[in-house]
Amino acid sequence: MNDTMTLSQRADALEQQMSDELDYIVIKSRLYSLAEGDMGPPPNAGALMAQNPKARVLMGDDPRLPAMPEKPTLIDFFRYRFGPATHVLQSARHAVNAGLPEKMILACLLHDISTMGLIRGDHGYWGAQLVEPYVDEEVTWAIRAHQVLRFYPDESVGYEYPASYVKTFGADYRPDDYVEQDYKRMRDHKWYMSGRMITVHDIYSFDPDVHVELEEFTDVIGRNFRQPKEGLGFDNSPVAHMWRAMIRPAKYL
Ligand SMILES: [Fe+2]
Ligand SMILES: [Fe+2]
Repeated sequence: MNDTMTLSQRADALEQQMSDELDYIVIKSRLYSLAEGDMGPPPNAGALMAQNPKARVLMGDDPRLPAMPEKPTLIDFFRYRFGPATHVLQSARHAVNAGLPEKMILACLLHDISTMGLIRGDHGYWGAQLVEPYVDEEVTWAIRAHQVLRFYPDESVGYEYPASYVKTFGADYRPDDYVEQDYKRMRDHKWYMSGRMITVHDIYSFDPDVHVELEEFTDVIGRNFRQPKEGLGFDNSPVAHMWRAMIRPAKYL
């Protein structure tokens, strides 16, 4: 590649180099290119294949990612897809130390799985939906609520608007209107305090010396997460496709 190439020529050249070396072609979903601010047309699979006739678009497992078992469990997703889970592990440990009931420990352990494995924006809503068929209704409700309640202080439990939000979003940031509307609905709900408890244990100031292993929560998961015997993604539940999207995030169709 030389320096006179434009950015898109360089991207094309890189794509070409990849498809020469590998016998598969990765075509990203629209959402990923939009997240790059890219409104261009999607890569043309036909044209790429014409340049490398032995290549195929990716329809099976992605060789760049760790292989997953045929019937993946929640723990497999933690191991092979969610990346470092330090934040939720520390949250769950915090909840254990505070004497919270098991289902709330599970809620703390799962509260950010969407940011860890799927999508950041509205992560409470996505995360709640992911686990809805497998956990107590209150756990789903609390996970959905935590991202809304994070923006609103509650003196009764000593929860303040996070200083990190002032820094990250700016001092004049105000939550979107639909968040505000949901807050008004949530604060009068019978499970308000469960959602609030996640925010209380949603700690951002980590002690680097505290190391928490997922194995510490194997029993809590076993008792409170209804792991489908067919594996997450293959149980014909209304959210199975969402788990499959994390197993094969670059599947062509
Ligand atoms: Fe969160
Ligand atoms: Fe969190």
